[in-house]
Amino acid sequence: MKDAPTYWDYLGLDRLLDLQGGLEHDESGMLVDELHFIVVHQTYELWFKLTLRCLRIARDALGAPRVAEETIPTVVHHLRRVTSILRLAVHQMEVMETLTPQGFLDFRDKLVPASGFQSFQMRELEILLGIEDAERVRYGGVDPVQHIEASAHDTPAGRLAKGRMSEVRQERTFLACLDDWLYRTPIQGSSPGDPDDEEAVSSFLTAYQERMAEARDASWKRLHQTLEVKDAEGMRRRFDDLAAQSRQFLEAHDVPEAERARRRRIRAAALFIESYRELPLLSWPRLLLDLVVEVEEGIVLFRHRHARMVERTIGRRVGTGGSGGVDYLDQTGKYRVFRDLWAIRTVLLPRSRVPELENADFYGFEH
Ligand code: HEM
Repeated sequence: MKDAPTYWDYLGLDRLLDLQGGLEHDESGMLVDELHFIVVHQTYELWFKLTLRCLRIARDALGAPRVAEETIPTVVHHLRRVTSILRLAVHQMEVMETLTPQGFLDFRDKLVPASGFQSFQMRELEILLGIEDAERVRYGGVDPVQHIEASAHDTPAGRLAKGRMSEVRQERTFLACLDDWLYRTPIQGSSPGDPDDEEAVSSFLTAYQERMAEARDASWKRLHQTLEVKDAEGMRRRFDDLAAQSRQFLEAHDVPEAERARRRRIRAAALFIESYRELPLLSWPRLLLDLVVEVEEGIVLFRHRHARMVERTIGRRVGTGGSGGVDYLDQTGKYRVFRDLWAIRTVLLPRSRVPELENADFYGFEH
């Protein structure tokens, strides 16, 4: 009879617990601080592994030619797991911080030039989500992805790193799938391909912008009356500049003309979902959009938390990977993939001001 399954066989604990030997493949003489450093990094890489798997499932579900309504809770489920992991990843930096600056110096030199900069799973995560190459911070002209490809030696892990980089670049990004899904979202009951769809989108956006102008005037008046304004003209200009930027965003004047109609519809759809989120048909999509922002927020918080931990541990030293260290890391905190979803926040109106919903029945809303 076959042996009964055991906990240790199931988890491959013999192999797992034999992976902390570092470059010497020998833990016996290793400082406990180095063991700590390796264990913390390995647990992060395991969380990255699961994160990638969940994001790919969510991406595939959203990227289908037709996304059934009942698929959205599945996407939400996977995104929620990712946000939960990211929260833990932020907190886990606390464990890393039990390594003192001098404790790190005891073994730091042997790592050079290896660095978290070579975490191919972190790059995979960025590429899978849809970060643009042009947005990446390069230090000394080094492109982070090319760096991995160039520094990957012919070892099992090196081959894995190289293979993963080339594979992920062939994949569709989460952002592209999300955009496709948003593009098809019915706005005031109208979908792309319907005879008057462009008109429906335009009339929603026009009505929305009229309401925005009313809301802006009301805020301006209230501020002007209640605040001791020294530079009233300057403040009015700030309101007007924001109005011009909002118009540019909603009409997609910031993108090339050939892409304008599509981008405009994508942004209108995100705005529509946020504005009428209590409609039965839109409440799950709204949750989905919120979680996408939460995923990105989690990554940004991870970057900031890592940078503070690094500042506390190595001050302003050059990183083992040769970057400006903390300065470089702080610059990466500015990356944003889901720019439209962040930007929508600037133009949202209170419920009392959103334009009248048309075709309410279409969204499962009964008066
Ligand atoms: C004592 C602990 C640590 C120190 C001093 C440290 C330091 C640094 C520095 C200076 C960089 C910039 C690249 C370079 O020049 O090396 C970097 C990058 C990075 N580190 Fe750490 N790190 C530590 C722990 C961790 C941990 C626990 C993780 C978890 C995964 C991590 C993940 C990363 C990643 C992903 C990057 C690339 C960031 C990017 O390019 O966007 N690091 N680290």
